This record gives sequence, structure tokens and C-alpha cells, in this order.
Amino acid sequence: MSNDPVAPTVVQVVDSMERMGSGPYPGLRRSSARGVCFVGTFTPTGQAAGLSTAAHFQHRPVPVTVRFSNSEGNPHVPDAAPVTRGMATRFHLPDGTHTDLLGITVPLFVASTPAEFHGLTEALRPDAVDGRPDPAAVQAHVTAHPQLAAAITQVPPVPVSYGSAAYWAVHAFIWVDAVGARQPVRYRWEPEAGRAELTAEEAATRAADYLTREFHERLRHGPAAFTLHAQLGEDGDPTHDPTVAWPEERKELTIGRLELTTPVEDQEHWDGQKFDPTRLTAGIELSDDPVLAFRAHAYAESFSRRSRHS
Ligand code: HEM
Repeated sequence: MSNDPVAPTVVQVVDSMERMGSGPYPGLRRSSARGVCFVGTFTPTGQAAGLSTAAHFQHRPVPVTVRFSNSEGNPHVPDAAPVTRGMATRFHLPDGTHTDLLGITVPLFVASTPAEFHGLTEALRPDAVDGRPDPAAVQAHVTAHPQLAAAITQVPPVPVSYGSAAYWAVHAFIWVDAVGARQPVRYRWEPEAGRAELTAEEAATRAADYLTREFHERLRHGPAAFTLHAQLGEDGDPTHDPTVAWPEERKELTIGRLELTTPVEDQEHWDGQKFDPTRLTAGIELSDDPVLAFRAHAYAESFSRRSRHS
């Protein structure tokens, strides 16, 4: 599951995530607890068609379902909190199967192994008395892992809208073409409306659920669109480490356009789904990133707990 010498178990990590969010909250995800789902269409540009055989990167549009969320496991954290947001996209493929792509509003992940992630969630455990993490424990974690400082100190935007943020899938994935040639890539969704964030003063005036309300209102005036970009890795670019960016000058393709049009009819059904970053399709493979591999098991554990309403 991981090349990490002291890899924690999935149960240890999900337990720790629950504690970090002062949970558990029965029936809810152990991360990104509060979310809202929409439907739309993804239309490929064809730019990826020669590099990956994936059905949704060829030439036919495919239906999609998207869940936007706040990253916190605590559902009471208001939308204006300076936390990352999530965009989980399910592409419904012509053969009746589906594939998922999960993104967040910062480009780097905070850990390059499950053990580092576990160390961070333990350091962020709220104090029993004041409900806040111990700053000294967080500082000790950063001091012990100086290479993670840039990732851990990223400041996520408080977006005007779920539709005015960029979302990075963070990990490398591997495209495979018709003759088996392999190309590492990293994905990013870019909002067609442009990136826009609130000032601290503006954020202070927003309702606790302003992001959900705003997006419903936005769709009443027309679709919300995103373009999907893929950065092409070159020899030597690390594929195993989600805390390290590739050089900005790497070639980038615009591989498709997503138009979200309406809320899903059955929010409860879609909120109950499990989006999984390792649910891929022919033409896309996992990279050697141990965090990516671990996530499949963590999401399954969270899904199992919330399905039991525990
Ligand atoms: C060791 C690393 C990680 C662990 C243990 C972890 C754990 C989790 C868990 C337990 C959930 C709830 C799953 C469910 O109940 O369906 C979740 C949701 C989510 N995570 Fe992670 N995560 C990790 C890394 C990441 C990274 C690198 C990203 C960047 C794309 C990410 C993005 C998301 C998103 C967008 C959701 C919400 C999915 C949805 O709406 O269903 N996570 N994560």
C-alpha cells in the first residue's frame, strides 16, 4: 500500500482525522463532510486523444456529476473559513462505467507519505479544553519535516464562488496511449469565470452556507464552466511526491470543457456516493505516489463508517 517504513493503518489515519475535526459526525464523510452536487457535461477538446485512450478524452461529450465541498470533516465549519475546497467529478462513460477526478483549491498536498499525513493530523488534534490544536505540536511537525513547509503554509483562497476557484488534482497520473506509451500528467480545473476570492472583510459578512447558495443562484443565470488542463511531466519530474510542483514551463494541454447546469435531482443519493481518486479507466493509470494509493483505502474506510451511520 505504501513504501513508507512506518506506514500507519487506514484505521489509525481515519480515527485521527475524526479527532482532528472534533468528530465523528455520524453518516458524514471524515473529510469534506459538507458538500453539494450538480450535473453537467464534459466536452473533450481532443488534445489528449493521441496520448491517452481514455473514453472521455476522445471526441464525444460525456455527462458528469460534480460534488463541491469544504475540506473539513467538521460540517459546522462555515463556508468563509480559510480552508481548501474540493471538487469531485464523476465522468459517466459511454460503456456504462465511470471514472472520478478529485481536486482541491491548492496545488500541493501537505504530506508525501501516509505517515507524514498521520503526523500532521495528530499535531492538529484539538485540545480538550480550548478546542484548538497546540501550535507547538504543529510547529514541531514542520520543524521535523522542513521539506513540507511550502506545502503546509499554502493559504487557500476563500473563493467568491465554487465557480471562481481553480482545483488541482495534485497527484501525478499516467496516461497510456494506443500503443502503450506512457505520459505522466497533472490535472487542474480552471474556472472560465476567472479566479476570484473574498477579502477577509467580505468573508466576515457571508452566510455560513454562502458557497452553496451562490452556486445555485449562479446556475439560474446560465451554466458555470471550467476547463480541464493537463501539465505534461518530463524525465526527472517526480511522480511519487504530491508536495512538489513540476516546473511551470512544462507543456500544458487544455483537454476539455465542463459545463455545470443544474443541481442533481437527488442530493441525498449523490452525497452518499464514494468518489475515489483511484477509480480510473483504460488509458489512465496510477502513478507511484504512495499517498494516492493510500487514499483508496482511507475513502473506503470513511465510506464504510458513514454508511453504518457511525
Ligand atoms: C493521505 C492523504 C489523504 C487522506 C487520508 C484523505 C482522506 C479523505 C477521506 C477519508 C475523505 C472522505 C471520503 C468519503 O467518505 O467518501 C476524503 C475526501 C476528499 N478528499 Fe481526501 N484524503 C487525502 C488526500 C487528499 C488529496 C491529496 C486530495 C487532493 C485532490 C484530496 C481531496 C479530497 C476531496 C475533494 C474529497 C471530497 C470527495 C467527495 O466529495 O466525495 N484528499 N479524503
